[in-house]
Amino acid sequence: EALLDLAMRMPKAELHLHIEGTFEPEQMFAIAQRNQVALKYDSVEALKAAYQFENLQDFLDLYYQGMSVLLKEQDFYDLTMAYLKRVHEDNVVHVEIFFDPQGHLSRGVSFETQIKGIYGALRDAQRDLGITFKLIMSFLRHLDEASAFETLELAKPYLAWIDGVGLDSSEVGHPPIKFENVFRECKALGLPVTAHAGEEGPPEYVWQAIDVIGVDRIDHGNRALEDIDLVTTIKHKGLTLTVCPLSNLKLCVVDSLEDHPIRSMLRLGLNATVNSDDPAYFGGYMNDNFHALVTQMGLTRDELLILACNAFEGSWLDHDSKQQHI
Ligand code: HPA
Ligand code: ZN
Repeated sequence: EALLDLAMRMPKAELHLHIEGTFEPEQMFAIAQRNQVALKYDSVEALKAAYQFENLQDFLDLYYQGMSVLLKEQDFYDLTMAYLKRVHEDNVVHVEIFFDPQGHLSRGVSFETQIKGIYGALRDAQRDLGITFKLIMSFLRHLDEASAFETLELAKPYLAWIDGVGLDSSEVGHPPIKFENVFRECKALGLPVTAHAGEEGPPEYVWQAIDVIGVDRIDHGNRALEDIDLVTTIKHKGLTLTVCPLSNLKLCVVDSLEDHPIRSMLRLGLNATVNSDDPAYFGGYMNDNFHALVTQMGLTRDELLILACNAFEGSWLDHDSKQQHI
C-alpha cells in the first residue's frame, strides 16, 4: 500500500510516448465529428472492442486509422494538451514525446500544422502545469529512406522546436541500417537520436541501432537480453532503455507482467525506465504501468526508486535540470 502510494505520488519522467497513441476514443469521435470525417467504427464501444492485438502490426493498423481524423492545428493541440493534463495527475513532471510526421503528411496535413499544434500545447502546459518537455520527430521505418530525408527537409525550419529524432513503426523487415544515411545527417545537425529496437526485432537490430545509427537511447530493447555481449555493450555505454510494460503485454511481446524482463534488465545493471508508449490503446498511462509492475511483478521499493531516477538520468534534459530531479 505504502509502496503503491509512493509510486503514484513520486515525480516521474516519461521518455517513450507517441502522442498519436494518446488519442482516446471519446476525443477521437469528437474530433472526427468536428472535422466531418467518418470513422470505421460507429461507437466508442465498438472501437474499444477492437483493441485486441496479437502483435505490433495489428496495433499499428488501428493507430494509423485513429490518427487519420487529425487535420487541423487545433486537433494536434487538443490531443497533446489532453495527454499533458492526464499525466499531470500521475505526477509526471517531464515528458519526451514522439510524433510521426509522415503519418500526417501522407494525408495532406502539413508539417507546420502538426508541429504548431503539438508544440503550442507543450509550451502552454509548461507554463500552466510546470511540465518540462522535449519533442522528438520519429521516422516511419516501413517507409523508405528517401521519405525520411524529405521529412527532415520539411523539419528544418522548425529545428528550434525539435529536440531529437526517433525511428518507429513496423520493426521486423525494417532494420536500422535502412536509415543509416538520414540518421548520419540528423547527427550532423546535432540532434540526439533514439530508435525502437528489440521490441519484436532480433538482437541484431539493437546492435545496428548502436553501431550503425549511434543511438543515444534505445526504445524497448527487450530482445537485447538474448545476447549477453549486447547486454554488456549497452551497460558499458550506459544507454537507457525505455521499456513499456503494458504495451509489451498488449502486443504479446511478453506473456505476463509477473516475469517482465524489466527486472532482469535492472539486475544486469541496465538503465531501464518505465513508459506508457501508446496509453490510449494499451490500457494505461504512467501510473497504471507502475501500478501493474507493483501488483503483478512485485516491484520492490529499491527497484521503483532506481526506475524513477533512471528516467531523469536518461532524459535529454541538461545536467543541471537533471540534478534538480534526482
Ligand atoms: N512500436 C513501434 N512503433 C510504434 C509503437 C511501438 O510500440 N507505437 C507507435 N508506433
Ligand atoms: Zn513506441
